[in-house]
Amino acid sequence: MAQRLWRRMGLKPPAPAALGVLLALALLALARLPPSLDHSPHLPPASSPLSPQWEGAAPLSRGRACCERPPPPPARLRRDQPPGRGRRQQRGVVGHAPLWLSDDDLQKMRLLAGGWVVSKARIPAHGQVLRVGLRAAGDTKGDTSPADPERDCQDGQCGLIKRPSDLYEVLAFHLDRVLGLNRSLPAVARRFTSHLLPYSYTNGSLRPIIWWVPDLQHLEDANNDQNSCALGWLQYQEMLKPHGPTLATGNAPCSSIPRSEWSRLALFDFLLQVHDRLDRYCCGFQPDPSEPCVEERLHEKCRNPAELVLVHILVRRSAPSRLVFIDNAGRPHHPEEKLNFRLLQGIGSFPAAAVATLRSGRLQSLLLESLRLDRELWESQGGAEGLRPLLRTIDRRARILLQYIQEHNLTVFADSPR
Ligand SMILES: *[C@@H]1O[C@H](CO)[C@@H](O)[C@H](O)[C@H]1NC(C)=O
Ligand SMILES: *[C@@H]1O[C@H](CO)[C@@H](O)[C@H](O)[C@H]1NC(C)=O
Ligand SMILES: *[C@@H]1O[C@H](CO)[C@@H](O)[C@H](O)[C@H]1NC(C)=O
Repeated sequence: MAQRLWRRMGLKPPAPAALGVLLALALLALARLPPSLDHSPHLPPASSPLSPQWEGAAPLSRGRACCERPPPPPARLRRDQPPGRGRRQQRGVVGHAPLWLSDDDLQKMRLLAGGWVVSKARIPAHGQVLRVGLRAAGDTKGDTSPADPERDCQDGQCGLIKRPSDLYEVLAFHLDRVLGLNRSLPAVARRFTSHLLPYSYTNGSLRPIIWWVPDLQHLEDANNDQNSCALGWLQYQEMLKPHGPTLATGNAPCSSIPRSEWSRLALFDFLLQVHDRLDRYCCGFQPDPSEPCVEERLHEKCRNPAELVLVHILVRRSAPSRLVFIDNAGRPHHPEEKLNFRLLQGIGSFPAAAVATLRSGRLQSLLLESLRLDRELWESQGGAEGLRPLLRTIDRRARILLQYIQEHNLTVFADSPR
């Protein structure tokens, strides 16, 4: 899996010898260390063929008596305990889970990584993903009630399991938090074993699972339900102008979304080279003939800007003025000489804190610190060494973005606390 992943990215996989050493090191470390998240490989993934009565009052002993190992206790990831540190250092040294991850993030990550799978549902027209209801490991609240998928999801207890090839969404989540953008959804990598899931989900491959937003706002229009508001490229560009319709007319499409949100989106999408939202037609670079945007004959529309629309522009009903970033896997292998600058078009100002982090020269080390929390991802990618090429790519894009900001005399804005 890891190998295939690297190939997809056009990167050389780590040498087998290096992998062997890493694996040995990882095993050694695992033997000695407490896990950072609930889903370290030596622990059972906390999914199981749960029938409601399985969740008896004593799931632990029951698990032990039978064939399934018990779910790990919750809250392994403690803020007062540095991830990945040796036992020797545990006492006396006060470390922290990275500050850019909120308690809420950590709680959701734990649920995604270690929660029991109690229900599943297909998403209409999205064959490649599965929504699952999760119950926190050790949670006994649901003991007597059977799983109610809809209610679980309304309560924020669901996740979306995506394809193995979407694993970069986990990286994207950490990038979002490291930069202080806070617009993407908690995501972890996980291997599933639940008998509730189809075989292709339990065959041992690592998949990303993304927290399911209970109140994403969708247009009623069945052809356009991937948006909270319908927005064409030209309208979007108008809106970005210093005195554009955002402030002028309250009822323009997407007018509840302030300009600063688009700045966050553009910065994030440029670093990851996500073009689905702002440029699904690949107008900003020369796509290969095999690209979906060419095969689906979208690219040819670039000639007529009036036809271009934005997609995956989403907000929550509970927060209509904040974008929610979904589907963030992006293009880690996208070549540097073809970077899509159209993603930045019209943006006059970027969030100061994110730009400061890009400037700090610490982006890679901060990302490593953050990604280290996700043991499954970390180990599957060969740890810091294996992740390095990917992080370098992002860092180089960051430098190119900084240069762009400078050359175009663009400004930064202080992030509003919302
Ligand atoms: C991050 O976003 C969530 C909503 O998605 C919000 O509840 C939280 O307050 C935000 N955190 C910060 C530090 O802005
Ligand atoms: C498991 O199934 C998925 C989806 O069909 C596939 O992409 C993956 O390669 C399989 N993994 C293994 C280890 O067979
Ligand atoms: C940026 O500012 C400099 C100095 O004021 C000016 O010479 C240059 O033309 C500006 N560049 C752009 C792209 O506006």
